[in-house]
Amino acid sequence: MNTFDLIATTQFGLEEILAAELKALGAENTEILNRAVKFTGTLELLYKSNYLLRTCLKILKPIATFEAYNETQLYENIKKIDWSQYLTLQQTFAIDGTTSGEVFTHSKFVALKSKDAIVDQFRENCGVRPSIDPEDPDIRINIHISDINCSVSIDSTGVPLNKRGYRLEQTFAPISEVLAAGIILLSGWDRKADFYDPMCGSGTFSIEAALLAQNIPNGQLRKFLFEKWTNFDAVLWQTVKDEAEKAIVPFEGKIYATDLDKTAIEISLQNARRAGVAANIEFTEADFLQSKVKGEGGLIVMNPPYNERLKNDDIVEFYGEVGTHLKHFYNGCDAWIISGNLEALKFIGLRPSRKIKLFNGQLECRLQKYELYRGSKRGGNDPLQIISPTSRR
Ligand SMILES: C[S@@+](CC[C@H](N)C(=O)[O-])C[C@H]1O[C@@H](n2cnc3c(N)ncnc32)[C@H](O)[C@@H]1O
Repeated sequence: MNTFDLIATTQFGLEEILAAELKALGAENTEILNRAVKFTGTLELLYKSNYLLRTCLKILKPIATFEAYNETQLYENIKKIDWSQYLTLQQTFAIDGTTSGEVFTHSKFVALKSKDAIVDQFRENCGVRPSIDPEDPDIRINIHISDINCSVSIDSTGVPLNKRGYRLEQTFAPISEVLAAGIILLSGWDRKADFYDPMCGSGTFSIEAALLAQNIPNGQLRKFLFEKWTNFDAVLWQTVKDEAEKAIVPFEGKIYATDLDKTAIEISLQNARRAGVAANIEFTEADFLQSKVKGEGGLIVMNPPYNERLKNDDIVEFYGEVGTHLKHFYNGCDAWIISGNLEALKFIGLRPSRKIKLFNGQLECRLQKYELYRGSKRGGNDPLQIISPTSRR
């Protein structure tokens, strides 16, 4: 099977995890880029990547690179590509443009100029042209320009891969599915230890954990744009799906999803049902500050309210209570807390053993790990030592 270059896009901070996922699927020549990983693979890997990767947003297939110093050169170079290979007259298309640097400063203008070049090529060769559909096109073309360096790719994904298809309902301030999966992978969860999602909102962490633990493909409920490509191989696609089905494994562990809000629990349950993992998760309406560990240790993952979109009477006091509660009632666990409220995070009052910069949407966040056991680590600090937020400034 032919191999070619591919680009997997992701969120800031998840590039290494994505590269590891790609290598596990058989990708070669992986190279970390800014919010993306470049790799080499076959059409089969392109299908698998869309269907199975948990920390990827889109898979792009580069088809041309060139230099352009002005709009005429951009137009001419786009027109040199044989667009009949990628697009038929019956199909609709859309162009996404992204620009950085001083030569091209308006991404919408770049998209418009590129659209003109494609349309003009069809008109000259066939007398007619394919139509544009910016919302739901058959073929999506990506033009990325950095200074004078232009790269043209075909988007094999369409709607980004964080849209798995199960979260049709959500509570206020949900976490991205890709970020949730990335955090679980970053935590190194062994898929056996008890998993706690104590402020579950729409249930994203729990559902992602259940999918991951069983190797259930993320893409089961959705479509991909490569299914509309002129070279779409339906037999190969079915083989990829059949193999993924065979790789699903049973999960014996426990996933506990709780939230203070009854509606959040109802929404989480509906989402888990759609994802096919409701049987793997125990949903309960509960206040985290009244809860305690159920078995021997486990992994806790949560994004408490940030006070950005969610209001909390006294966010700083609340974060302090969360830290104290973890210390007293979750001994033996590892807790990973992500928050966009960097000030409030300082008031957790426990010493984090890891700090990772991430973004939830546009919001800069910190993911912090707390090891909740009495400090027997050789030479290390007592991780449960309560520290004053002011002492760190
Ligand atoms: C930022 S949202 C979590 C989003 C969630 N990860 C998702 O994917 O949708 C914070 C959640 O914490 C819940 N919450 C706030 N205080 C709580 C408490 N003391 N105990 C349990 N849940 C709480 C809120 O009801 C809200 O659903």
